Amino acid sequence: MTAQERFEVPVASEPLALAVGDVHVWRCRLQQPEDRRQTLVQALSPEERQRGDKFHFEHHRRQWTIARGFLRAVLGRYLGIPAEEIRFRYHHLGKPALADEQNPCNWQFNLSHSADGALLAIGRDTPLGVDLEQLRPMENMLALARRYFAAEEARQLEQVAPAQQILAFFNCWTRKEAILKACGKGLSLPLDRFLVSFRPGEPARVVELAGQPGEAKRWSLTALQPWPDFVACLARQETTPNLVCLAFD
Ligand SMILES: CC(C)(COP(=O)(O)OP(=O)(O)OC[C@H]1O[C@@H](n2cnc3c(N)ncnc32)[C@H](O)[C@@H]1OP(=O)(O)O)[C@@H](O)C(=O)NCCC(=O)NCCS
Repeated sequence: MTAQERFEVPVASEPLALAVGDVHVWRCRLQQPEDRRQTLVQALSPEERQRGDKFHFEHHRRQWTIARGFLRAVLGRYLGIPAEEIRFRYHHLGKPALADEQNPCNWQFNLSHSADGALLAIGRDTPLGVDLEQLRPMENMLALARRYFAAEEARQLEQVAPAQQILAFFNCWTRKEAILKACGKGLSLPLDRFLVSFRPGEPARVVELAGQPGEAKRWSLTALQPWPDFVACLARQETTPNLVCLAFD
């Protein structure tokens, strides 16, 4: 999947439903017209407003609060409740989940934001992770790869044609990060302990998990391109999900 036009706008009046094995991925721009921004942001809890107020720059505050409003609005459509009534709980490393009393169907979700884009993946039963990055030049890209990626990945990145290195770097970054986010571990799981595919045109997959033979094939990675200047990855264990891409436009 690479085409941005595959993100479809669902009919607003239709209820949103997910069968076991389905994953819906939503994209949303974090620059919204003022009336829409206010509608989204007014659903935030007092704690979320306080968290938003801590951003130093106004545009970061606006982006974060719109992303949180987007998360609430979409979850509310699946649960059939107003966005402001959604309640979250947090795993010990910060991964948000629905409060148990609102989650009898074991909904799973994960959100990512980068620049003025956000991506939200929603499924059932199996934890999932999503990571979105805007493609941008990075001055110290190869040094970052040597520091964070597995040595073999950094070596392969150096061999990618310079014109494709930014794409390759962010393919690798989003795929590794999506796996971390599916596990809910953040950087507590060392990034150099697993290898992913990342060369442009190569299907996304986990190549190897150090010390865990046979485990790599339990992961399903799906590369996404919600807008032309962004790449993203959805990571989930077990079977490849039935994926539907939707636009919150
Ligand atoms: C959350 C984390 C896992 C990812 O952060 P990030 O890539 O900066 O941010 P993203 O936008 O993709 O994800 C943030 C969202 O993930 C969710 N999240 C928070 N903690 C999480 C966790 N432990 N696991 C999964 N999801 C988490 C939240 O919804 C959060 O949104 P919020 O900030 O609006 O509350 C972060 O803890 C982290 O470890 N970042 C490391 C980034 C890095 O240096 N990567 C190296 C290159 S591969």
